[in-house]
Amino acid sequence: MPSTTSTSQLGRLLLLPLAVSIAHAAPVSITVNARNQTGPFTPIARFFGADEPNYAYYPEGQALLSELGGQLGPAQTYFRAHNLLTTGNGIPALKWGSTNAYTEDADGNPIYNWTIIDRIFESYLERNVKPYAQIGFMPEALSSHPHPYFFNFTPSSPYDVIYTGWSYPPTNYSKWGELVYEWVKHCVEKYGASEVESWYWEVWNEPNIQYWNGTVEQFYELHDYAIDAVRRALPTARVGGFEIAGGTGGDYLANFIEHVLRGRNYATGEIGSPLDFLSFHAKGSPTYVNNTNGGYIQMGIAAQLQNIDDAFSVIASYPEIRHKPIIISECDPDGCAACITPQYDYRNGLLYPSYTAASFARALDLSVKHGVNLQGALTWAFEYDDYPYFDGFRVLTTNGIDKPVINFHRMLGKMSGQRVDATSSGQVPLDTAVASGIRDAPDVGVLASLDDGRLSVFVWHYHDDDLPKPDANITVSIEGLPWTGSGKLAHYRVDNEHSNSYTMWLKQGSPQSPTAEEYAALKAAGQLATLGDPETIHVGDGGWGEVSFTLPIHSLSLLVFEKNL
Ligand SMILES: *[C@@H]1O[C@H](CO)[C@@H](O)[C@H](O)[C@H]1NC(C)=O
Ligand SMILES: *[C@@H]1O[C@H](CO)[C@@H](O)[C@H](O)[C@H]1NC(C)=O
Ligand SMILES: *[C@@H]1O[C@H](CO)[C@@H](O)[C@H](O)[C@H]1NC(C)=O
Ligand SMILES: *[C@@H]1O[C@H](CO)[C@@H](O)[C@H](O)[C@H]1NC(C)=O
Ligand SMILES: *[C@@H]1O[C@H](CO)[C@@H](O)[C@H](O)[C@H]1NC(C)=O
Ligand SMILES: *[C@@H]1O[C@H](CO)[C@@H](O)[C@H](O)[C@H]1NC(C)=O
Repeated sequence: MPSTTSTSQLGRLLLLPLAVSIAHAAPVSITVNARNQTGPFTPIARFFGADEPNYAYYPEGQALLSELGGQLGPAQTYFRAHNLLTTGNGIPALKWGSTNAYTEDADGNPIYNWTIIDRIFESYLERNVKPYAQIGFMPEALSSHPHPYFFNFTPSSPYDVIYTGWSYPPTNYSKWGELVYEWVKHCVEKYGASEVESWYWEVWNEPNIQYWNGTVEQFYELHDYAIDAVRRALPTARVGGFEIAGGTGGDYLANFIEHVLRGRNYATGEIGSPLDFLSFHAKGSPTYVNNTNGGYIQMGIAAQLQNIDDAFSVIASYPEIRHKPIIISECDPDGCAACITPQYDYRNGLLYPSYTAASFARALDLSVKHGVNLQGALTWAFEYDDYPYFDGFRVLTTNGIDKPVINFHRMLGKMSGQRVDATSSGQVPLDTAVASGIRDAPDVGVLASLDDGRLSVFVWHYHDDDLPKPDANITVSIEGLPWTGSGKLAHYRVDNEHSNSYTMWLKQGSPQSPTAEEYAALKAAGQLATLGDPETIHVGDGGWGEVSFTLPIHSLSLLVFEKNL
């Protein structure tokens, strides 16, 4: 046939892009070498937080705190909340909260009232959650620009309606310092010094954006007075900061470190201020790709990883502090938990947990790269009592139903002990993920830990695009299991059929008033499930071989190998 040559040329041309996509989807081989322990497995995912402190004592808030404090494994859970010093009646609203801790009498004398703050902290402590205590915001009676003070935020409000009287400098820094001193002293009296020593104390939130309506020097003054007051009330208190938006916030982080190390302390007149830990925020940047086929969400993991890389790099450049604990005290896929837009739909399903897996694991890898001491990555998401089911807020539960993202935390909570060497042929290199995200080949990554003979291998399958992709075919080879004999292998799974209340709710027809039976099914679907029953395995002298499985896009697997006792 005369056309043979041209057909085969055409075939070759067409095969080229096809070959590339086949190469991307090649079977993934994961190798775990349990003999090679690379340092403690740090339980970074045990930090949570919210703008709204008062839900902590509402029914669903308390139920969720019980899960966070009691169901995520042995490590300690911490909670960070805004508005602990904000003036008001303690009724929550979106992006709002209040405690009325500070008012003044007619002569301007302080009146302290710890009733609501105590209620919040007791709600934590009774459920094995400790405060990551944020000192803020400005009480109305101390604000240099108190009116307007209250605001009414809705999920579609412009964000800046929130910047009212609470965001301003105090009229009197001594009074501000005394407020902080009295608060910490009260906590020490109520809970005991050794309890309060185990908390974190930091000042304010994101002072480099409109959360602080004052100058940088005024913020240093606010910080120095507050930290001095904490340490006067409890000399062993753990203090740090600076809760900066956007990683380094330009020069903000370096300048603040300079102030704290070498600047004149506004409160004491001496050089420097105590600093036990460092904190900054890192957020991704999702967009909605709109095309003629309908459109889809594209996550922006690179923006978040760049925040982390940049901030670690600044911290690592100061020998005096590079070893100090770091908490990425808001570490999220996007900027606003209480906002709802079409691109935030991803928060209900698998994209949120798989994104969190890919980003938190890389935060650990970036801390290894920079030689810094990452201790926490804080998920800024909690819950709102009395809102619709799966409404699109960045929350962990909806009407008491656990969203899939909690099962990421449950999986990580099963990991402890030492981190061990694990590599995946399908893991996108760290530098690529930081520079451009997960936009080309998908990311099949791995993190492994070994504790007292229990080997846990955590695997995620992530891509920035919320689009269908082929399942990954994965083979995990284990070397160096530290025991022989019989044991068991449990395979935990988060996918569309497992550990997923959202797909269950869709199957039910998205009920806003589920029947008791439907509700029970949703509750159950929200729990972490295994893929089949645990398997019995036999480990001979030659060690143990391999396990193969497929992992759908945006799904998670945790393999736990344990010796039978
Ligand atoms: C996974 O394996 C199945 C069965 O061998 C095969 O049909 C499929 O194409 C493979 N998927 C990928 C992404 O390689
Ligand atoms: C302290 O605050 C609580 C809660 O707002 C309130 O019920 C109580 O009356 C206040 N105590 C005093 C002495 O004002
Ligand atoms: C600030 O408050 C302190 C009491 O804490 C008071 O002694 C001082 O006079 C006040 N300063 C001004 C300028 O009002
Ligand atoms: C502070 O608030 C005023 C309005 O009261 C606004 O015009 C100004 O831009 C704000 N400044 C900062 C730094 O946010
Ligand atoms: C996508 O484009 C369509 C048509 O231009 C428009 O009506 C729709 O609002 C867009 N959706 C989003 C989420 O931007
Ligand atoms: C141990 O693991 C680390 C981190 O994965 C790796 O860089 C190193 O090469 C491994 N060492 C050995 C001897 O395998």
